[in-house]
Amino acid sequence: MKRIFITGASSGMGLQLARDYAADGWQVVACGRDREKLMHALAGIEFEPCIFDMQQPKDIQTAVASLAPFDLVLLNAGNCEYIDDAHQFDAELFARVVKVNLLGTANCLSALIPRIKRGGRLAVVSSSVSFVPLTRAEAYGASKAGLDYLVRTLAIDLAPHHIAVSLIRPGFVDTPLTQKNDFPMPGKVSPEQASRAIRNGLAKGRAEISFPFGLISVLRLLSWLPHGLWRRLSQRMVRSGS
Ligand SMILES: NC(=O)c1ccc[n+]([C@@H]2O[C@H](COP(=O)([O-])OP(=O)(O)OC[C@H]3O[C@@H](n4cnc5c(N)ncnc54)[C@H](OP(=O)(O)O)[C@@H]3O)[C@@H](O)[C@H]2O)c1
Repeated sequence: MKRIFITGASSGMGLQLARDYAADGWQVVACGRDREKLMHALAGIEFEPCIFDMQQPKDIQTAVASLAPFDLVLLNAGNCEYIDDAHQFDAELFARVVKVNLLGTANCLSALIPRIKRGGRLAVVSSSVSFVPLTRAEAYGASKAGLDYLVRTLAIDLAPHHIAVSLIRPGFVDTPLTQKNDFPMPGKVSPEQASRAIRNGLAKGRAEISFPFGLISVLRLLSWLPHGLWRRLSQRMVRSGS
């Protein structure tokens, strides 16, 4: 039976992925910070809970120490906060986001890479935010752009160890993370659709999995614009409130 380790399984995309992999017959080790919340979210599903905060490297090492090797380690947990006033730059907010999304992922990598089977796969959930600079996303975008570089580099350096690597870049997904957003979210998909896109991409062995197609195509085109043109367009959109 195939084994998957998945972080952020108490909510949103991670929860849906844990449910879907369990339904597909995988042995699921599902992670969260809060045991009660995790058990409640995954009630009725066969899984092994693994409880830690990604910011605590020793707790992660202890939590995974006795776990058998995995076919797939899916690092999905993350958070999002926006910089509302760049002129009064909130360095604490910036640190909070980077500590979880980037440094927390590094803590997980240190504990989990040695637990991936030869021929297995590491997958990390980044975001489509890093295609172009987006207003208020200084912290979230920087943390995810850092992940992109980290994961693409791991894809090179883990190949000799027979570990494949996938970078996952979702657009907007309807989860608690986006339910607090107060701006339009074009192309928003359900957690079920996101889970399907991710599982299909991983099953095909894709190195990069970006979805939904429409939004990603637009972002990709925008990322090819000269930086100055995108900056002027963004400034105009911010001024007009669109
Ligand atoms: N939703 C979107 O539109 C979207 C788009 C692109 C990328 N993403 C990325 O997708 C991933 C999942 O997001 P989601 O939308 O499903 O959000 P979500 O519903 O808020 O779920 C976030 C998960 O991450 C866990 N988590 C947060 N901080 C943690 C920490 N310090 N240690 C351990 N676990 C922690 C949460 O655990 P608790 O239950 O303990 O809080 C929760 O299980 C994130 O990396 C996010 O950046 C989301």
